[in-house]
Amino acid sequence: MKTFVWIGIAGALAAVAFAAQGATKQGKQGASSAVVKRGEYLVTVGGCNDCHTPWRIGPHGPEQDMSRMLSGHPEALQMPPAPAPQGPWVAAASGTFTAWAGPWGTSFSANLTPDADTGLGKWTVQNFVEALRTGKHQGRGRSILPPMPWQDFAKMTDADLKAVFAYLQTIPAIRNRVPDPIPPQGSQAQGERPSAPAAGTGSSGGGEPPQGGGEPPQGR
Ligand code: HEC
Repeated sequence: MKTFVWIGIAGALAAVAFAAQGATKQGKQGASSAVVKRGEYLVTVGGCNDCHTPWRIGPHGPEQDMSRMLSGHPEALQMPPAPAPQGPWVAAASGTFTAWAGPWGTSFSANLTPDADTGLGKWTVQNFVEALRTGKHQGRGRSILPPMPWQDFAKMTDADLKAVFAYLQTIPAIRNRVPDPIPPQGSQAQGERPSAPAAGTGSSGGGEPPQGGGEPPQGR
C-alpha cells in the first residue's frame, strides 16, 4: 500500500517536471508569466541590451543584433590590444559595444542567455542577485568591471532582481564563450609578473631581494 502511494507521488512529480519543461514562458524557478513579463520590462528599460547584445550597422545605422540577443561579446570577434589612452579620451569600445577598454583594462559583456556552459544556465537566482548587489562575480568572485552598472542595479528590489533573472532564463540559449577580462597594461600587469614566478618556484623570490638591495647603495 505504501509503495503504491510513493509510486503515485513520483508519477505526479514527473508530470509536474514535464509540464515545467514544456512551459517555455515559465522561469527556471517556476516563476509566473507575470513575473517573467516584469523581468522583460526591466531588462528593456534597464538597457541590458545596450551592452549585452552585439550591435551592428543596419540599413538605418547602428542597431542591436537581436538574433544574438543578450549573448555578450561574440567569441569570434577577437580584439587587438586596446589603443593607448590619449588626452581626455581614456576609454574605447568595440563597434559591437561589447568590448570595453579603460583604466580597468579590457572587459567583455557577459553572456546572459541560459546556455549552461557559456551563459547563466547553471546560475542560481542567489548567484544573480548577489552579483548585482555586491559587484562580485556570482556574488563571491572577482570584482565586476566597468562599464557594468551594478551599483545602479544593486538598488533594485529583491523581487525585481529575481524577475530579471526569471526572464533571462526564458530567452533563447546562445552558446557563446565570452573572453576573460584583460588586466590593464602598465603598472598592474608589470606588478603581477615578478610576483608570479616568486610564488611559483621560490627561486626567483630569492633573486628579488639582491635586486632591491642593490638599489639603495646606488641612490646613496
Ligand atoms: C554599460 C554597459 C552595460 C549595461 C547597461 C549592462 N551591463 Fe551587464 N555587464 C557589462 C560588462 C562589460 C560586463 C562584464 C564585466 C566583467 O567582466 O567584469 C557585464 C557583466 C554582467 C554580468 C556578469 C556578472 C558576474 O557575476 O560575472 C551580469 C549578470 C550582468 N552583466 C547583468 C546585466 C543586466 C541584468 C543588465 C541590465 C539590467 C546589464 N547587465 C546591463 C556591461 C553592461
